Amino acid sequence: MKFSTVGVVGAGQLGRMLALAGYPLGLRCVFLDRGPDAPGAQVARILVGELEDPARLLELAHASDVVTFDWENISSAALAPLEKLVTIRPPRKALEISQDRLREKALFARLKIPVAAHAAVDSKQDLARAAHALGIPGVLKTRRLGYDGKGQFVIREASQIDDAWTAMGGTGLIYEKFQQFSREVSIIGARSAAGKIVYYPLSANTHAGGILHYGIAPFVHPSLERRATRHLKKVMETLSYVGVLTIEFFVVKGRLIANEMAPRVHNSGHWTIDGCVTSQFENHLRAICDLPLGSTRPLGHTAMVNFLGSMPSRERLLGIEGLAFHDYGKEPRPGRKLGHCTIVCATARGRDRALAEALKFVEWT
Ligand SMILES: Nc1ncnc2c1ncn2[C@@H]1O[C@H](COP(=O)(O)OP(=O)(O)O)[C@@H](O)[C@H]1O
Ligand SMILES: [Mg+2]
Repeated sequence: MKFSTVGVVGAGQLGRMLALAGYPLGLRCVFLDRGPDAPGAQVARILVGELEDPARLLELAHASDVVTFDWENISSAALAPLEKLVTIRPPRKALEISQDRLREKALFARLKIPVAAHAAVDSKQDLARAAHALGIPGVLKTRRLGYDGKGQFVIREASQIDDAWTAMGGTGLIYEKFQQFSREVSIIGARSAAGKIVYYPLSANTHAGGILHYGIAPFVHPSLERRATRHLKKVMETLSYVGVLTIEFFVVKGRLIANEMAPRVHNSGHWTIDGCVTSQFENHLRAICDLPLGSTRPLGHTAMVNFLGSMPSRERLLGIEGLAFHDYGKEPRPGRKLGHCTIVCATARGRDRALAEALKFVEWT
């Protein structure tokens, strides 16, 4: 076999679920992360070190046939020297673009994928100008390193511009027009080096405080799904992408507005572990290891609920028929993603009922 050991930069829950998906295929993961108790390290080998430590990264490359990442903020420059030793997938270019909200939007716009009106902000004057030109409400965000709604300030009236600047002020920001969306949806696909692409059904995602709370899939809306897959295809082909890629969209008056992309497996695709023939994790591994991509056919109507801050009662949740429970092995802490559950049902109504039941047992802290 050409590829049998996959080096993964970052050993969070995404890495852990990648490693678990690799075992039945005979693929082994080896991680690089800071602590021996990281979620991935509990299920596969780990090299302990800083994620951008040059020596540790080289060690990871030597131990691997292909290198990937579960943390999309790893700098492309830190990975560059590894390319002489090993294949890096997805391509570094995708990392570079997705790490900067401004470049991400520029790529979408170049590919004629609609985005929210936005402007770069590097000073208080820039912010005042942007708020005036684009209108209020709007969201001031850091261009880099934001996740789970962190590094964002929603400006609802002009008097908040000062507060927003006090809270976030600096360079490297972006102001986006606030989107009055009816839904948030995401599309996930996997592309092979030969250019074959498979797409998962659209997922509809409900966030609370900027963090994914729960999602349902398939979100049955053929015309939105067709447009979303067309957009994803363009981005993947433009970047000569290999692996799993996700794009998040707002649905505004029936239109899709691209919000951001993630060059990796995605929280809104966790349902595919229990709800699809082949999970996003397995398809990421298949794509980066030059194995044929697997079927993305859904097995029913699913819902996924994140566990945040504290773990819910396993006993109670497992009493719900069709529910699968996933514990990432993390220390509870407010705001931390600790696990999730997925419900797979024969009908959308059954799924909605079971979701309402599950939500009663899941505290959100
Ligand atoms: N321009 C916007 N208009 C309305 N809501 C937004 C906007 N930008 C972000 N949000 C809300 O905040 C959530 C997190 O923002 P996002 O840009 O996806 O950052 P990240 O997921 O990297 O923290 C979104 O899923 C959405 O619910
Ligand atoms: Mg997001």
